[in-house]
Amino acid sequence: MADEMDMSGVGNDAILQALQQPLTLQELDYAQVWAHPHNQWVHFPIALGLTGVVLVLLARRWPSLYTSAAVCLTMGALGGVTASITGWLQRESFTTGPWSYVLQVHQTFGFLASAYLVLCAFVSWRPAFRPWLWLYVLPLAVGLFVAALYGGFLSSSSSL
Ligand code: HEM
Repeated sequence: MADEMDMSGVGNDAILQALQQPLTLQELDYAQVWAHPHNQWVHFPIALGLTGVVLVLLARRWPSLYTSAAVCLTMGALGGVTASITGWLQRESFTTGPWSYVLQVHQTFGFLASAYLVLCAFVSWRPAFRPWLWLYVLPLAVGLFVAALYGGFLSSSSSL
């Protein structure tokens, strides 16, 4: 847009002012929303997985919460599998260079966390496992946290 506009005779202040104008919704590039699907899908295993963990811990006091916990863990597991697939498809630009080791750590914890989330979802629907379910889900919280932490480093790598 700037290239098309004839800027000769326009002062620097005016250009600066034009650049500082807030973007309108029409000016947004909506195609960008889908450019990094992993960055959207990751919210599901993190939010639903951790909510499931909290509900399992609360269910020790209020057992009626076990079903809600199982629903969250199951939806989180579906999100985790999708996040892992989209992460794998989006990793190319990080496989070489300074962030390649961080990617290794992130994808290892990402795959482990999503596989373990599937296991926790599976056992959460079985009443026989419920007395021990709180022990199952504690490592899940750690795995999701570590995956999210190093994923965040990868995504903000361009600004670090
Ligand atoms: C449950 C599994 C996973 C979780 C919770 C997760 C979480 C995250 C988070 C929170 C980010 C930062 C997003 C942002 O700041 O916008 C991220 C980025 C990333 N993750 Fe994952 N991740 C998972 C699995 C994977 C796997 C299995 C891979 C690769 C095989 C992977 C590759 C990436 C890449 C390449 C980025 C940087 C994306 C970019 O900004 O272009 N992730 N991940």
